[in-house]
Amino acid sequence: MGDVLGRERELARRAQFLAEARVGLRVLTLEGEAGIGKTTVWDAAVADARQAGFRVLSARPAETEAKLELSAVADLVETVPPAVVASLPAPQRHAVEVALLRSDPGEDAPGARTIATAVRGILETLAAAGPLLVAVDDVQWLDRASATVLGFALRRLGGTPGGWLLARRAGLPTLLAPERLLGNGVADTLTLGPLDVQAMHGLLTARLDRPLARPALVRVHQTAGGNPLYALEIARELQRADAVGPVLPAPAHLRDLVARRVRSLPPATREALLTAAAMPVPTTAVVDAEALAPAEDEEIVTVGPDGQVTFRHPLYASAVYGTASLRRRRVVHARLASLAADEEERAQHLAAATATPEGAIAARIEAGAARARRRGAWGAAAALLERARELTPDDDRGAACRRGLAAAEHHAHAGDRVRARELLEALDAGGLAPAVRARALVLLGQIAINDDKFDEARRVLASALEHAGDARTLTEIEVGLAYVCANQWDFAGAAAHSHRALALAERAGVRGLVAIALGFCAMYDFLCGGGADREKAERALALEDPELVMPGNWSPSTVVGALALYLGRYDEARARLRAVWEHASAVGDESDLAFVVLWLSWLEVRAGDLAEAGRLAREGAALASLTGSTSIHAWLLAQQALVHAHTGDAEATRRLCEESWVAVAHFGNALSGIWIAAANPVLELSLGSAEAAWRACEPLVRGLEREGLGEPVVAFFLGDALEALIAIGEAERAAPLVEALSDRGRELDRAWAIAVGARCRALLLAARGDLDAAAEAVERALAEQPRLGMPFEHARTLLVAGAIARRRRRRSAAKAAFERAEALFAELGAELWRARAAEEAGRVGLRRGAGDAVTATERRVAELAAQGRTNREIAGTLHMSPKTVEAHLARVYRKLEIASRAELGARMAVGAPVQT
Ligand SMILES: Nc1ncnc2c1ncn2[C@@H]1O[C@H](COP(=O)(O)OP(=O)(O)OP(=O)(O)O)[C@@H](O)[C@H]1O
Ligand SMILES: [Mg+2]
Repeated sequence: MGDVLGRERELARRAQFLAEARVGLRVLTLEGEAGIGKTTVWDAAVADARQAGFRVLSARPAETEAKLELSAVADLVETVPPAVVASLPAPQRHAVEVALLRSDPGEDAPGARTIATAVRGILETLAAAGPLLVAVDDVQWLDRASATVLGFALRRLGGTPGGWLLARRAGLPTLLAPERLLGNGVADTLTLGPLDVQAMHGLLTARLDRPLARPALVRVHQTAGGNPLYALEIARELQRADAVGPVLPAPAHLRDLVARRVRSLPPATREALLTAAAMPVPTTAVVDAEALAPAEDEEIVTVGPDGQVTFRHPLYASAVYGTASLRRRRVVHARLASLAADEEERAQHLAAATATPEGAIAARIEAGAARARRRGAWGAAAALLERARELTPDDDRGAACRRGLAAAEHHAHAGDRVRARELLEALDAGGLAPAVRARALVLLGQIAINDDKFDEARRVLASALEHAGDARTLTEIEVGLAYVCANQWDFAGAAAHSHRALALAERAGVRGLVAIALGFCAMYDFLCGGGADREKAERALALEDPELVMPGNWSPSTVVGALALYLGRYDEARARLRAVWEHASAVGDESDLAFVVLWLSWLEVRAGDLAEAGRLAREGAALASLTGSTSIHAWLLAQQALVHAHTGDAEATRRLCEESWVAVAHFGNALSGIWIAAANPVLELSLGSAEAAWRACEPLVRGLEREGLGEPVVAFFLGDALEALIAIGEAERAAPLVEALSDRGRELDRAWAIAVGARCRALLLAARGDLDAAAEAVERALAEQPRLGMPFEHARTLLVAGAIARRRRRRSAAKAAFERAEALFAELGAELWRARAAEEAGRVGLRRGAGDAVTATERRVAELAAQGRTNREIAGTLHMSPKTVEAHLARVYRKLEIASRAELGARMAVGAPVQT
């Protein structure tokens, strides 16, 4: 390319950028009009980086029609050492090999997310090994899939140093906009302005056969507006005319200038140029090298030693292609189609070559789409399928519908749900065969579920039910309806649809669907209070089919993991959900990840690792907002609130509940509502505001009063709700639910319900004044704790035990319970609850301080007694009679509620309160 002339400011900025990219993530976008010199500066910076020891991954997407999806990413990854690719998790490695290096795909197509995750993994590994530069020229021509992959990587590389140097033509839409993905300070734009006369002079002198006279130079510079490419073309035109005329060609007509230059070339050369412009990767294996020679002389193309044909400037390629007639282009594409070895590339050319419907060609394009899909190029496959449908003859409506439907399916998979919906709605308009219509409606329903539009999903799926005939489609409809019902708080409906789905799936004989239906039956029967059907759960796991393309949160592993969590089997739940998490992150499916992380976070709240729960909830919320799943995002906000309620951050709890509530009210996700109702009282009770706690869960409690308590664990807010209700003086209203909680707990053998039921019963009995029975109840609650494995619940029960002991004037027992609660809360990091326990413990001590505390003399007597001295020895030491010693000790025993010298020793060691 030669030296860079002028551009001192840009080159200085480039040096600073590279220095910063060694320590942090930096994106620099060079922006400017066509031909202004972006690639020139970009090239210089890339060369510089290489010199400075950066590893450079680069790509230069082209503006061709027959662009291959993911080609830019393939270019970036091409030079990555094989060892780095080999170190990726298996599904990612497979995705890279299939999608980017184009090895044989085998049967399973990698998802776009998997490719994106793999690319991120590669970039992280390379960045850890040394300075890294990702350089992409002409980002406005990135194919959609490549732009998605790069955007995905960029958003997640926050902590990974590295430079991203992009060049972008101003005024064109672009699919990759780092400024929008990253904060200021990370992504910068450098706009390239006109070149000054001095630099222009140097440029024209170097590049033209003959130098321009000074006045001509000034006029060229002015007319070109300082744009070097225009200037070069204008100057060439001037020299061709061999005279400096009064009117210089206007820069707006650059393409005409190029076209005129191309037209002056021999026909065979023009043909060769057009062929090159129509190919994704032109080489002299296809393009006639000899015919191309005059274009090389004209500096329009270069031919590399490996036969690769490169246009000297992208504008030349687009001028060549854009000014050729449609007819000529079609001829060229038809020829290229006959030469293409790759099915997908052939399909691309056929799609461009064919003007009128033709059955055989449409079928070949459809086959090319299948090839594209197998390598994970879902968007390319969708586009080919659309074209195949357009080229399907009118009398073959069946094929046209099939292709339209498939195109929609592929678009949905590629993440373009809008286009998918458009195609489906267009399909639906025509009178379709019932089976096709049912499939279209199922797809529309699934898209609506994905978009969190549950009402619409329910409506669409219900009408799909009317048209569907085959068992498989019917199964998918019933499964979808079950999921929608559950999200709309209709667990009974969910269970009914699940059972219908199961019967249908067995009839259809589709293993993976049977597994999903089994998992759903197990879960929704459980949520309805029917207990956990272990056998169904086991069968669901055994039949699980990882290849079945269905939302990840429907998978038996996730469902059974969540079930184990509800059942309090935390180790099993953790193992199962972690396995799902690992699989989802290996294939890069973030919408699945968010859902799994949600359960994992809830698990850690219950198991008592609040720090981990908080980290997971934050991660989940970030994932959900990236993937745009609003209902799961809302749920994760509520889960975050639950964690904050436990750790005692009042402001965060209230804010997150509020935010979550807005979304829940909008999408009506039943389960997030339960989470919000659970978070509030944990906070309010720790602040001593029973009224606020009650208000937060009253609507849900009313539902339970009306409908009875099915599965107790689902109502995991209930213990706090009842505690609040009793505290505001409504013990008798609480009584039936307290009984129900215990009864259901015993019937279903749920340790959680038994323990919490007993705790609430203790509170209820204490409110009624039956303190002895209350003490017995709280003992039972405490006895459940070891098998429960929920330290927070344990500490809460100790608080109740302490309060009851205090009322029974068992001060030391009260104090001991409060202090153990305090220690447990402290260990958990539950700050407000710890403070409350400490305050309760203090109150026991303070009372004693006011009336019953040990005096200084009593203390000295007690200390000596605790050291094992006899009453006589103590009497001698303290100059008092043995009788007085005895009287002092009796008072100490009473005040400390102890009976023996041995207990005295223990108490004095921890320090009994002393009156001062
Ligand atoms: N500073 C410079 N010094 C020397 N030559 C330059 C300079 N700037 C641009 N050129 C020349 O001008 C022509 C156009 O520049 P370049 O290809 O970098 O433009 P661009 O901005 O990348 O255009 P596009 O938007 O079409 O990609 C090239 O032939 C290039 O060699
Ligand atoms: Mg350029």
